[in-house]
Amino acid sequence: MSAGNVQPRVVLQNMTPYSPGKPIWEIQRETGLKQVIKLASNENPLGPSSKALEAIQTALTDLHRYPDAQAADLRSTIAKKLDLKNEQIIVTNGGDELITLVSEAYIEPSDEIIVPAPSFSEYEFGGLLMGARVVKTPLNENYQYDVSNILNAVTERTKILFLCSPNNPTGTVLTKSQLQSILDALPKYVLVILDSAYSHYATSEDYTDGIEFIKAGYPILVLKTFSKVYGLAGVRVGFGVASQEIIHNISRVKEPFNVNALAQAAAAAAIGDDEHVRLSSQLVMEERLRLYGELQNLGLGYTESMSNFILINIGTDAGLIHRKLLENGVIVRPGATWGLTSHVRISIGTPEENNRLLEVLSKLIQGSRSTRKTSSN
Ligand SMILES: Cc1ncc(COP(=O)(O)O)c(C=O)c1O
Repeated sequence: MSAGNVQPRVVLQNMTPYSPGKPIWEIQRETGLKQVIKLASNENPLGPSSKALEAIQTALTDLHRYPDAQAADLRSTIAKKLDLKNEQIIVTNGGDELITLVSEAYIEPSDEIIVPAPSFSEYEFGGLLMGARVVKTPLNENYQYDVSNILNAVTERTKILFLCSPNNPTGTVLTKSQLQSILDALPKYVLVILDSAYSHYATSEDYTDGIEFIKAGYPILVLKTFSKVYGLAGVRVGFGVASQEIIHNISRVKEPFNVNALAQAAAAAAIGDDEHVRLSSQLVMEERLRLYGELQNLGLGYTESMSNFILINIGTDAGLIHRKLLENGVIVRPGATWGLTSHVRISIGTPEENNRLLEVLSKLIQGSRSTRKTSSN
């Protein structure tokens, strides 16, 4: 059958599908290796909270029922935790869905959105999907946010300013005073979206996840997810926090049953499991420091991270090293995803996973250095 002459929307020409980290099974099949570790998607290496698993078990018998379209229990659990009203929360099929919903609710084709670069690609996806112009504002040479750069990009057409803190893939943060300056200087017709997906790992004193600015009445929406510290990436659940009015507008484009019943039950249990959150973030903080030391021993540069991943500067052989890591059963993300061709981004795993990464990486780095020496002799 031919596709006839049915034309997809013109905007599709500008869009490239999201390229996720390769799954473990795929590398096992490609390499024939049994032992494969995945340090590519910034997941929680400790797994989900046992309380979330119990909640899923209990919810299983009700699977013949549609999920709660309002996710009432989960919303009120989140609202209580953050000391906000239920109407200030929207629960979505991962943070990804929230980005699409906000884009659908707010962006006209004649609008512009501002996104940091390099950063999470879904913001650009949302803008392009709606046919808007995407304006990229580069981070500075140390991957820090540059407030004047951002403000200079604002025009009469700007609708949304996306900010990611800690930023994926650099791990750098927007400070509280930087956010304050941006919010004070922005025209009132610009909505700020602060993506705080990785907030639990940020330890710097001047970090803010943005919730306090919602309480202070600024036009800002904060994105959060259950995929990272809560270890629930597989069931797809995240949420947005903002004023009642903003949440109401986004709810108008939401599918009724966007978050499945198991995800709702798991997330409500996970948010109450403080011990699991504490252990998960502590693991990242300890291993982050240890990895810095080991990377220095290997003579590799890296960006200090406030998140559960590290951007490593490998140099000219980064593409080759990435491929060789895969061949040795270690999945990491190539920096080329963000145009950072000398880099790889590694997620922080368990101590054993990180040891395996270091073991393979150090062999590959030594190998590539001695090849280079021989060829220059
Ligand atoms: C910065 C950032 N925001 C949002 C998300 C979306 O997460 P999810 O859709 O799994 O909730 C991710 C996922 O990797 C991310 O890195």
